[in-house]
Amino acid sequence: MKRMLSGIKPTGQLHLGNYIGALRHFVENQDEYEMIAFIANLHCITVPQDPEELQKNLKDCVALYLACGLDPEKSTIFLQTDVPAHAQLGYIMCCHTYLGELNRMTQFKDKQAKGEKNLSGGLYTYPTLMAADILIYDPDYVPVGEDQKQHVELCRDVAIRMNNRYGKLFRIPEPAVPKVGARIMSLSDPSKKMSKSDGTDKGCIYLLDPLPKARKKVMSAVTDSIGKVHFDPENQPGVSNLMQIMSSLTGKSLEDIEKEFEGKGYGDFKRAVADSVCSTLETIQTRYNEIISSDLIEKTLKEGAEKASAYASVKLKQVQQAIGMEIR
Ligand code: AMP
Ligand code: TRP
Repeated sequence: MKRMLSGIKPTGQLHLGNYIGALRHFVENQDEYEMIAFIANLHCITVPQDPEELQKNLKDCVALYLACGLDPEKSTIFLQTDVPAHAQLGYIMCCHTYLGELNRMTQFKDKQAKGEKNLSGGLYTYPTLMAADILIYDPDYVPVGEDQKQHVELCRDVAIRMNNRYGKLFRIPEPAVPKVGARIMSLSDPSKKMSKSDGTDKGCIYLLDPLPKARKKVMSAVTDSIGKVHFDPENQPGVSNLMQIMSSLTGKSLEDIEKEFEGKGYGDFKRAVADSVCSTLETIQTRYNEIISSDLIEKTLKEGAEKASAYASVKLKQVQQAIGMEIR
């Protein structure tokens, strides 16, 4: 069985972009692949966190993994810090990555370009920890949204370099980026991606938003004056974004959505998008409410960490031995 691995940072609440670009695919693939899904709590402290808020987000993040349909019987679900080998291999990966490579990472460059002050060293070396997260389990595929593709490519480059130098240590993974929905845009500014660090609340639908609030966000999404439901991200970014959301949530193709709304106005279209969003959120929230008050979270994380540690510690040892860091 081929293996897939991915993670999400518990920075803030999970949103529809996380669900459509990543989480949904973890769930869809867990029957066909051996799925490893973790909560990247080391990655989230690369930017300042409020300890109380982080606590809540961590717990919600696990509960939402489960509520979205990840099944602990099928998938390995755990907290990154429960498997210390990630950080240890992360350091080794960092020592095999060139500054020039890190300087090319757009996520860091974008933050710098925005003039954000006091960016941390952890944020800069983040892709090397991400490479360790991946390589330590030898996955075949890494399902991520568009914004993470560059990091997976860096991971491949460093893995190939280390394999050439020390003999075959790592399987070289492929990024798996969805065809539709890899980059869900903000509803209030469709030139920016939907993001928890958006600042304004209007453009981002959180998985735990009350349904009337989510509906309102869809109904007030920015569109255009063309007045036609047509997929054209260049000239109709808002409408195209809503079409991608609807297509991802209902399984209807973009062409079918265009046909369905031929001759109809944006009001009808937005109502249908809002219906698909609310129906998805309702299912997730019902399960979330059951899970959050049960002991499933604790049990899942404990079992997940045990399973993951068993594999990761062997791999870490192999790498350290190959490099010659251990006394044989
Ligand atoms: P993050 O929230 O940055 O930890 O992202 C977790 C996963 O969600 C990654 O695979 C991202 O690529 C994906 N993701 C984040 N934001 C979006 C978005 N607006 N559209 C699609 N995928 C996204
Ligand atoms: N960097 C990813 C993000 O911001 C989260 C992440 C950390 C990840 N480690 C990973 C994703 C390993 C895939 C594989 O979304």
